[in-house]
Amino acid sequence: MAKIDFKALKNKAQKDINLAKDLKELDEIFRKYLGEKGELRQILHSLKDLPQLKRKETGKLANQIKKEIEETLKKKKINIQNLISNIQKQEWVDITIPGKKLVLGHLHPLTQVKKEVEEIFQSMGFSVVEGPEIENEWYNFDALNIPKDHPARDVWDTFWLQSNQKIPNPKSQIFTPYRPALLKKGGAGAGRNPKIQKLLLRTHTSPMQIRYMEKNQPPLRIIVPGSVFRHEATDTRHEFQLYQIEGLMVDKEISVANLKAILAEFFKRFFGKNTAFRLDPDFFPFTEPSFNVSVTCVICEGKGCNLCKKTGWLEMAGAGMVHPNVFKNSGLNLNPPAGEWRGWAFGFGLERLAMMKYKIDDVRLFRSGDLRFLNQF
Ligand code: DAH
Repeated sequence: MAKIDFKALKNKAQKDINLAKDLKELDEIFRKYLGEKGELRQILHSLKDLPQLKRKETGKLANQIKKEIEETLKKKKINIQNLISNIQKQEWVDITIPGKKLVLGHLHPLTQVKKEVEEIFQSMGFSVVEGPEIENEWYNFDALNIPKDHPARDVWDTFWLQSNQKIPNPKSQIFTPYRPALLKKGGAGAGRNPKIQKLLLRTHTSPMQIRYMEKNQPPLRIIVPGSVFRHEATDTRHEFQLYQIEGLMVDKEISVANLKAILAEFFKRFFGKNTAFRLDPDFFPFTEPSFNVSVTCVICEGKGCNLCKKTGWLEMAGAGMVHPNVFKNSGLNLNPPAGEWRGWAFGFGLERLAMMKYKIDDVRLFRSGDLRFLNQF
């Protein structure tokens, strides 16, 4: 019998064991070397042909190699089993644990209030229209009877856009009068020339009164929700950006009585109960006469508290009968055959409405992005 190279056999077996990737491969290696027909088994079988002395020596060696291979196999097996159980631990999924809930967002409280106000007015026959947030001086001031250098402009101090700024589209609706014939008339129309118009962030939604009447013939009823901007320091009641809801109704022979009826219905539906309100004399250049609309304080119900400054009333809106100059500047024919057009208008602050409804004491909360506040709605 040729000399058996045990060392080479052992090395070969160990190399195979090292390369084994799973228990199945280890099993094959066991069979290849130590199994019934395995290499080492065969060696042991052939020992019987050897002379006794040699047989003893070779047998001893073979048994030692067998033990060593068995040992390595055992270690590798433990290794692989540990690896498997680690993977199982990491990937283990408890299918009985309830799933993670998706956090769904919801509409901002101001959006909710805006929608509610829109729905109430729509049900009373008002259309919802919107206008540009970048306005020109004509629509924001002059056309609303607030000429240059008039002290009333101080109330609506705003952010002006740089006058040398390139205007991307001079034909945009900021400049184009809906009735181009107005441009030629001079006077009011001349103020609309884009070359001499300064741009600003609108201070109120009232410019849409002019824009809408330029394009539409009465009778008309609209509300105009939208963002407006003021050059103003912020505190619990003031923000430099806020929302307004403008209202305009133009019809024949309408009066303050119609305005009061609509306001009463609106307050009743918005606050969910009959809410007392009153009109006090006020001044706005675009209405004559002008009013300040107040409702009974929601906190003290008229008894007098800090919020209402002990008066029992809270100011909610400006309003009045549309000034004849506003009609004139929008090019409206004031003398239709069947009578005279009249109109009333109002301007609500949306934040104010929301604060009253939900008893919120700081206007800055709306834009704070604080989820503790927002999640309450
Ligand atoms: N535009 C006014 C403001 O921003 C509010 C206002 C007052 C609107 C009277 C009107 C109105 O339509 O008639 O303070």
